[in-house]
Amino acid sequence: MGRRKLVVGNWKMNGLRAQLGEVEAIGAAAAAHPSVEVGLCLPATLIASAQAVSGAAFVGAQDCHMKDSGAHTGCLSAAMLAEAGASWTIVGHSERRQDQGESDADVAAKALAAKAAGLKVILCVGESLDVRDAGNAEAVVSAQLLASLPDGAAADWLAIAYEPIWAIGTGRIPTMEAVEAMHRALRTALGGRIGAADAGGMRILYGGSMNGDNAAELMAIEDVDGGLVGGASLTAAKFAPVIAAAG
Ligand code: PGA
Repeated sequence: MGRRKLVVGNWKMNGLRAQLGEVEAIGAAAAAHPSVEVGLCLPATLIASAQAVSGAAFVGAQDCHMKDSGAHTGCLSAAMLAEAGASWTIVGHSERRQDQGESDADVAAKALAAKAAGLKVILCVGESLDVRDAGNAEAVVSAQLLASLPDGAAADWLAIAYEPIWAIGTGRIPTMEAVEAMHRALRTALGGRIGAADAGGMRILYGGSMNGDNAAELMAIEDVDGGLVGGASLTAAKFAPVIAAAG
């Protein structure tokens, strides 16, 4: 299908200016692997300064508000993030769905707001351990994806990240067979909404305890088009092997 691998770090609530050297080194690792699209979704406070040093790696945000402006203390609009230097944003990460109570409809609205501001979007979905154990993870996550999918979803501005909640930050990952089955199911679900051809071009990333040891095997799976990487993206020493595994 010719989908270019997309490998994105999610720094979550980590990073001060002292870590800009890591951003610069990750940019150098990205430059060494031009076949891979590489980015870092950073705390908003670091976006502008990181953008100045990130080189071949794009800089993104981790969330945006669904409104353009207004009385929303502490929130940031997509236009603000774009002006600071972000070219992508994550929406719908499970930590926000849980901690901030974001609904599928909120996530779709945030994706549209991001697109309107010129940002590309990584939309996250994934199941709890209860759902995985109950044996219906593919149906549940496919439904979550369709409910969170913005109108006009297209591969040129949107990527999906499948992140099993129980794999995030735990060192546990699903079996390769389970990842393959989920990604296939998600592409089929996308195809039902936007057509098989467009779904065939959309990147579906895996996220959850991806690191330099497991990235090559995960990204060799047919429908796995890259990774959304938390802990292993915080230093160039850990992230560079993940980038190399995608190249
Ligand atoms: P992890 O986080 O790589 O630390 O598991 C991934 C994510 O939550 O995006």
